[in-house]
Amino acid sequence: MSNQPNILVVGSINMDLVVRAGRMPLPGETIIGEDFKTSPGGKGANQAVAAARLGANCSMIGRVGWDAFGQKLLEQLSENGVNTQNVIITPKQSSGTAIIIVDGKGENSIVVASGANSMLTPDDIFSREECFTHSPVVLMQLELPLPTIRATIDISKRHNCRVILDPAPAPRSMPPELYHVSVISPNAGEAEMLTGTLAIEERVDKQVASELIARGAETAVLKLGARGSLVVTSDGHFYRIPSYKVDVVDTTAAGDAFTAALGVAIARGMHIRQAARFANAAGALACTRFGAQQAMPTANEVTMLMADQPML
Ligand code: RIB
Repeated sequence: MSNQPNILVVGSINMDLVVRAGRMPLPGETIIGEDFKTSPGGKGANQAVAAARLGANCSMIGRVGWDAFGQKLLEQLSENGVNTQNVIITPKQSSGTAIIIVDGKGENSIVVASGANSMLTPDDIFSREECFTHSPVVLMQLELPLPTIRATIDISKRHNCRVILDPAPAPRSMPPELYHVSVISPNAGEAEMLTGTLAIEERVDKQVASELIARGAETAVLKLGARGSLVVTSDGHFYRIPSYKVDVVDTTAAGDAFTAALGVAIARGMHIRQAARFANAAGALACTRFGAQQAMPTANEVTMLMADQPML
């Protein structure tokens, strides 16, 4: 496998409107926050930027609106080396936006207004079939319409691409066919939404991941934050990967960094255990900086963290 593999991301592109506050407001409560920032995000675009910074040739299929945010979002992708030829500018639509609150512990709450992302159709995917012919790995999340996600999975299978699905935001009931992917990579909250069980300790983690395998995924990788990650494969392998210790500033998009790194490592032909280590390191580094795309680490930074904190 090439050291600079091709990765295709089919996903959302948002402008993040971020306020930092000491704590989250309670329902009905108004609190005074700290600083406000506008910065490029969207789970799809975050993963595309992360994959490119980690050394992949990354292309993206998505939609932005016909507005100033759309221009800025396209520029940011291009500046990071993401091929935006298949990002469609959508007339009469606003770009996707996300309202984000980051609390004093670096935890976040996010509400997304999908805007142009909701206009990405199955036809947009089918008419770009050539993008799939040379991408061994396709990264997907759930901020797009369901028919478009289904179309992406179908076309990926037709071209033997490995689909890595980050089921975020997780629906309470995910259509059964969406589980039939190479890798599903939820965090604990998303895995709970999907399976009804919260992975809070070792015994339950494996049970939750195994349920995702039983529903059709070839490999389940649980992103467990400070508890690291857990891999269960359909051929019976099980790996627990400890986390890297870092000073957390903002956890926004740490999961995107993780999934993108997992995709890059898999496309490079790494063993899933090693790929999950690489992904843990990328996710940890994304927590050390404020923001989404701007927090994505480079391959060099990931390599240095892995060397600094070797695992036995
Ligand atoms: O995963 C973080 C991302 O979720 C943010 O950038 C926001 O845009 C939402 O898509």
